[in-house]
Amino acid sequence: MALSVLVTGGAGYIGSHTARQLVAAGHQVVVLDNFYSGHRWAVPADATLVEGDVANSELVERLLRDHDIQAVIHFAGYIVVPESVENPQKYYLNNTVGSLSLMQACMETGVDKFIFSSSAAVYGIPEVLPAREDAPTAPINPYGRSKLMTEWMLHDLAVSRQLGSVPSDGQGDFRYVALRYFNVAGASLDGTLGQATPEATHLIKVACEAVCGKRQGVTVFGDDYDTVDGTCVRDYIHVEDLASAHLAALDYLAVDGKSEILNCGYGRGFSVSEVLNQVRQVSGIDLPVTIGPRRAGDPPALVADATRIHEVLDWTPQHQDLAVICRTAYTWERDGMASRAEAEAPSAA
Ligand SMILES: NC(=O)c1ccc[n+]([C@@H]2O[C@H](COP(=O)([O-])OP(=O)(O)OC[C@H]3O[C@@H](n4cnc5c(N)ncnc54)[C@H](O)[C@@H]3O)[C@@H](O)[C@H]2O)c1
Repeated sequence: MALSVLVTGGAGYIGSHTARQLVAAGHQVVVLDNFYSGHRWAVPADATLVEGDVANSELVERLLRDHDIQAVIHFAGYIVVPESVENPQKYYLNNTVGSLSLMQACMETGVDKFIFSSSAAVYGIPEVLPAREDAPTAPINPYGRSKLMTEWMLHDLAVSRQLGSVPSDGQGDFRYVALRYFNVAGASLDGTLGQATPEATHLIKVACEAVCGKRQGVTVFGDDYDTVDGTCVRDYIHVEDLASAHLAALDYLAVDGKSEILNCGYGRGFSVSEVLNQVRQVSGIDLPVTIGPRRAGDPPALVADATRIHEVLDWTPQHQDLAVICRTAYTWERDGMASRAEAEAPSAA
């Protein structure tokens, strides 16, 4: 079923891959982005692009009404964990208050389907791995808390609608899917879209920048954890698979699926050293590594229990392979990013 969908943050890394898949699937896509970290070139030509902020409720309500929006996919947000520790109000304002403003606009206009970019950061340091969705949530930084608070707000709004206690516009219920992403990486298989987030801190992005000569090397934060080789273990999911999970969530809500919180990972962990070796292998370039101290708040291992997303959304990942993740990320870093920069550079003439 083709829907009219508002994609906030659709000029960013994950949002742009999702917007592209939505357009390809025949949905009407409106991207709202303030270009804090997104890029115009990343937005598909067939989507309507609006420059603006999710917290601008007048603009958002107008967009929802003018485009007859039926569903919102909310990617917009700040994502740098250490920055959230230094400047928590920046994160609570944009990620939490901004999300509330967007939800309020949905309430006012009767948009009843909402998909939210949550994060494995809501678990903090899980006691049991792989982490299931019903594991205790105990985020250890403002970024994780800003995401968890948004999940709570979504839950409370959905419940209030079921109770019929928000009578303002007489609309029906409100249903959402909060997707808790684990470590997102990789680039589109055709090499035309990838992560261009300025000063990204993600391991695979950083390693690819290093083998492409854009950084001196990579610092590994701690090699004395109780893991397979002493370095931290994470669950890496290819960005194209993550994007397709959003389309599956949209289909699910469109046929009256109930509100859900779902992990987005493959359920398999790789250590930092394993990832760096994979980047060396796909690039054929050695990668200088410095061992640094542990970072405060880094869980030794973070791996998803991905059972529920398969059951609930009938979603099957296509690129569940660390080599594919690293190869697409590397190719993008080497060729794709450069051609984008060239296309955007002012003409010498
Ligand atoms: N990248 C990951 O590994 C990861 C992991 C877990 C969760 N997430 C979540 O996924 C979402 C997307 O992450 P990403 O990696 O694509 O980041 P990104 O920085 O590439 O994309 C975020 C986009 O949102 C836009 N934006 C930010 N604030 C805005 C606002 N107030 N109004 C309008 N636009 C705004 C930015 O300009 C950017 O285009 C974020 O909410 C993030 O917290 C990402």
